[in-house]
Amino acid sequence: MRVGVLTGGGDCPGLNAVIRAVVRKGVKEYGFEFVGFLDGWRGPLENLTTPLGIDQVRGILPRGGTILKSSRTNPFKIENGVEKIKDNLAANGVDALIAIGGEDTLGVATRLADLGVNVVGVPKTIDNDLSGTDFTFGFDTAVNIAMEAIDRLHTTAESHHRVLVVEVMGRHAGWIALHAGIAGGANVVLIPEQPFDIEKVCGYVERRFQSHYSPIIVVSEGAMPVEGGDMTLVSGEKDAFGHVRLGGIGDRLAKEIEARTGKEARAVVLGHVQRGGTPTAFARWLATRFGLHAVTAVHEKDYGTMVALRGADIVRVPLAEGTGELKLVQPEQYAEAEVFFG
Ligand code: F6P
Repeated sequence: MRVGVLTGGGDCPGLNAVIRAVVRKGVKEYGFEFVGFLDGWRGPLENLTTPLGIDQVRGILPRGGTILKSSRTNPFKIENGVEKIKDNLAANGVDALIAIGGEDTLGVATRLADLGVNVVGVPKTIDNDLSGTDFTFGFDTAVNIAMEAIDRLHTTAESHHRVLVVEVMGRHAGWIALHAGIAGGANVVLIPEQPFDIEKVCGYVERRFQSHYSPIIVVSEGAMPVEGGDMTLVSGEKDAFGHVRLGGIGDRLAKEIEARTGKEARAVVLGHVQRGGTPTAFARWLATRFGLHAVTAVHEKDYGTMVALRGADIVRVPLAEGTGELKLVQPEQYAEAEVFFG
């Protein structure tokens, strides 16, 4: 059997660990041959391929990024995109495809599966916002990077009696902010799911200074103030999946806090640092197990499914279950962190 592998959407640490596990088990246990498709869905769309075998996956377990590269290409936005993909899979003798991606990449996989393409999905995203799985790989690494940044910002904030605002990724879901904020001892965490009241935030800031400590505010890039959301800066540009490129809430927030409280405030945007570098042990463990189970799903021809973590077990769920709706932070989960605000 010949199996294609691709990685799509925003990259994250652990992608190479999945690819390695897929190839190692696929070759050893099932005698599969593999072909790598480059740049996400652009690969099968434009027939961009690369050899993928044991030699190509040696030494890649701890490496960030993806040896197959990535893009945010949406074949459903391209004329005859689906036909081109089907033709190129046939031309390469590919019987099945393993697509490693987040909501967009796996959303495409879901639609292609409905159209008869043999595809198995592997959930990845630093945002951890895919339904059907307890965790995606990439998330733990991003949280650890953000936590380390918060730890460092605490000491410099204290030295200068400053407010430090840390902007982390998360367009729709505040998982990174919530987990890193709790782990790093943030004084306020602001997430997209819970519009914030700037006066309340300033109250927390002032309370923190009264106890002779400096506040650290962790804010998701997609967080919005309650009144109308006019504090979020957006460029207006959209990607192929219709997502507006965000950025700027941290800076706006710092300026607003400074103006309202008179305390010096600075913003730090962690940005793509959260997606780079080596995966944590948890990410490598999860990514490896996802890869092992995905290639077994292909062996069993269980197409249209996605591997998922449930507790400590890897299970299979219909692709549509993973991509149907985003997994958001629930009010009671946010309320746990609120105990530490101020
Ligand atoms: O989906 C992962 C993610 O890192 C989001 O957290 C972030 O909003 C987005 O990708 C950024 O995308 P890009 O790298 O294309 O600007």
